[in-house]
Amino acid sequence: MKVFGVDIGGSGIKGAPVDLERGDLAEERFKVLTPHPATPDAVADCVKQVVDHFGWSGPVGATFPGVVTDGVTRTAANVDKGWIDRNAAALLAGRLGDETGGCPVTVLNDADAAGLAEMRFGAGRGRRGTVIVLTFGTGIGSAVFTDGELVPNTELGHLELHGHDAEKRASTKVKDDEDLSWPDWAHRVQKYLAHVEMLFSPRLFVIGGGVSRKAAKFLPLIEGIRAEIVPAQLQNSAGIVGAAMAAAAAERDGAAAPAGAGASAGPLAAPASAPSSDGPTSQVGWPADP
Ligand code: BGC
Repeated sequence: MKVFGVDIGGSGIKGAPVDLERGDLAEERFKVLTPHPATPDAVADCVKQVVDHFGWSGPVGATFPGVVTDGVTRTAANVDKGWIDRNAAALLAGRLGDETGGCPVTVLNDADAAGLAEMRFGAGRGRRGTVIVLTFGTGIGSAVFTDGELVPNTELGHLELHGHDAEKRASTKVKDDEDLSWPDWAHRVQKYLAHVEMLFSPRLFVIGGGVSRKAAKFLPLIEGIRAEIVPAQLQNSAGIVGAAMAAAAAERDGAAAPAGAGASAGPLAAPASAPSSDGPTSQVGWPADP
């Protein structure tokens, strides 16, 4: 089965049809630069460009770098504040539905999407207990799983660390902005992981975001954490794959925003921003795995 996934990020909006059996992109992804300011309307136009590039008509999943409940974007730490309390699922479904027909849209937090993909197809596959996927980029995103079940919108990047918002101390943007060496940045990540571990005692941390490609430069420098720490495996495609997984689950549950729903449409009947607790795909890591 193929479903379309779009990853809305601070620098790029990228998408592709996803092969949900393989957990991989079915075609090479297409990317457009994120407009500035990244207002909901400007971003919706870009999402349409990406979807139209493939002539896609069918379910679409989209990630968003903020809290998303019932298709409504609730926070916007690193994006245009116009997203706060916007019905993003209805906005995107309306935009995509204008010409292409049936594109029901599901929107979920970007780290939750990446986490779903890692738990099903990547570094968290088959892992029980508490697993925390952290994405390091412009901000720090989190996806918390217990026995493969996602607790959405955990926002652990905004925990307080030494009097600061944690992502303002330990994101990869901060590493670049402050020109931190790998050991200096690893030290901050270690303090952050120790704090998260104190709160949740996970069995496994999966470290995602673009920096996961450079895991060898910093993971060996992180000491004193009881949990196993591994790099994410899906890297660039995790968000797109996870968005498609959520859209497929919402389709099955009849929960996606229907095409043609206007941005000003009232509350959706039974929307979902992530797989519900029912149905086989909500248990993303097990028991289907060996
Ligand atoms: C946002 C999260 C997001 C993370 C990564 C944070 O600033 O609050 O929702 O997952 O950045 O993009």
